[in-house]
Amino acid sequence: MNNQKYYKINSLIAKRWSPRIFNPNKQVTNQQILSICEAARWAPSCSNQQPYKYIIWNKSSNSVDFNRAFDTLDIGNQNWVKNCPILLVALADTKFDDGNFNNWAEYDTGSASENICLQATSLGLFAHQMAGFDVNKLKISFDIPPSYKPMAMIAIGYKSDDLSLVDEKYIKMELSERKRKPLQDNFFDSKWKNPIYK
Ligand SMILES: Cc1cc2nc3c(=O)[nH]c(=O)nc-3n(C[C@H](O)[C@H](O)[C@H](O)COP(=O)(O)O)c2cc1C
Repeated sequence: MNNQKYYKINSLIAKRWSPRIFNPNKQVTNQQILSICEAARWAPSCSNQQPYKYIIWNKSSNSVDFNRAFDTLDIGNQNWVKNCPILLVALADTKFDDGNFNNWAEYDTGSASENICLQATSLGLFAHQMAGFDVNKLKISFDIPPSYKPMAMIAIGYKSDDLSLVDEKYIKMELSERKRKPLQDNFFDSKWKNPIYK
């Protein structure tokens, strides 16, 4: 803990975080996956366009495609994602249904992905989002149409306390204190850079 002041938040939001040590032996059920998808479905979006698509890879039911998705991850992510049973990609459709550019597609996709993370948390699971993957390789491997922008991969599974499951570097990350900028850095009262309620 640093000396920053903390304000009370909803316990689900407080419980969500991005671990790197996952249990390779504990499966996620189809019901849990569908409940996670349903949570994303109820996210708000500009003009209710719901401009996102998710591809979900389940290592236990389709290891071939799971591994093709896994191969697009950076080595640093592969090192710990290897223990995750489920992998997703969040894709933002940059075009509205009428063909015009959707400037809010990425915003809305992020919103849906946060619902995924929170729903996973509510089910006792953990979701860890990643930008560290090869976007072009993924688009080619899975025939993603040009207007869809891969925003993040998301690894989902149960957490494990077994530190031997990952390299030392990731143990350090796992055990390090979670940090945030002070509230006043990002939240302003009425005027640009006027810190909220000092
Ligand atoms: C868009 C996005 C991309 C991220 N990329 C990676 C990544 O490639 N590898 C990784 O280990 N974590 C990644 N993270 C996780 C962040 O590092 C993590 O959310 C941040 O440090 C805050 O920690 P917390 O989620 O535990 O609160 C990413 C998170 C987001 C939202």
